[in-house]
Amino acid sequence: MTSPEPSAAGRYPAGCAAFPHRDLTGLAGLAPWEILFLLDEAEQWVELNRQPHKRVDRLAGLTIINAFFENSTRTLLSFEIAGKRLGADVVNMHAAQSSVKKGETLIDTAMTLNAMHADAIVIRHQSSGAVRLIADKVDCPVLNAGDGQHEHPTQGLLDALTIRHAKGPEFAGLRVTICGDILHSRVARSNIHCLTTLGAEVRVCAPPALMPAEIEALKVKPFHDFDAALKGADVVMMLRLQQERMSGQFIPSPREYRHLYGLSLDRLAKARPDALVMHPGPMNRGVEIDSNVADLAGRSAITTQVEMGVAIRMACLDVLTRKARGVEGWA
Ligand code: CP
Repeated sequence: MTSPEPSAAGRYPAGCAAFPHRDLTGLAGLAPWEILFLLDEAEQWVELNRQPHKRVDRLAGLTIINAFFENSTRTLLSFEIAGKRLGADVVNMHAAQSSVKKGETLIDTAMTLNAMHADAIVIRHQSSGAVRLIADKVDCPVLNAGDGQHEHPTQGLLDALTIRHAKGPEFAGLRVTICGDILHSRVARSNIHCLTTLGAEVRVCAPPALMPAEIEALKVKPFHDFDAALKGADVVMMLRLQQERMSGQFIPSPREYRHLYGLSLDRLAKARPDALVMHPGPMNRGVEIDSNVADLAGRSAITTQVEMGVAIRMACLDVLTRKARGVEGWA
């Protein structure tokens, strides 16, 4: 795998103009340099995370609250690790063990977290738009850890960083095929916004029932034939069927779905010979991806995605708290 170019001066404006937002609720509408700035910021944390001693004191004295109203393994743990490696005090609120279960509203929960003087709040919620709602009610930066079908911005960023580590710094000219349950996928939306903004060609592939009606507006090429969508792909990103967001029958059966839309070794051969295999997790092995593809050495970047997730979340926490910390050029 090739290494990305080092951070290039002049790629983005100086100081807070490089990322002039208090919150990270989505990647839609971000400028290319804002995304590149976060990717470049993450590189130092990729290096740190590979050292035996992984802790710095950049966010010492700050309190970060991870408020998760939906289950998570990768996102919750990596935000927790990211905050701790930066020296912050990190507190996790799991909705299942909170007063949400007693009927407390989202807004009242947000006001409660705000009254505890959190310096950043990370939120995952099952409803699209819930994170923006909370961000408008609190006084500190809010980071979206996934809201309904809307966006999962740090996933989009970590996926872009993973692609850059494997394919080099230029996104223009890269062909990325995203296949699966596009309709219900916040990962697909954030990746589409991120990768098209950076200049990649994005193809999306799904059965007709799992393709959003408004997909053409997102500057992607839609496919229902997976073999056609794979032709010439540099990156193949597989998504799971999001049963928890489905009401009713969207596919005839998992077996038929695998036959038409599952990534097997035979199917992968239709992409470029060096095509990168990605999956945000959690995977349903044997449905959208075969085990021998998910674990294919030199081609599967699935564990690299997890590694990049910690670095990206460190970069986002650092950048979004710079104003409050009085960092020169950001205060
Ligand atoms: N990719 C992702 O968001 O995984 P988790 O649901 O485990 O956080």
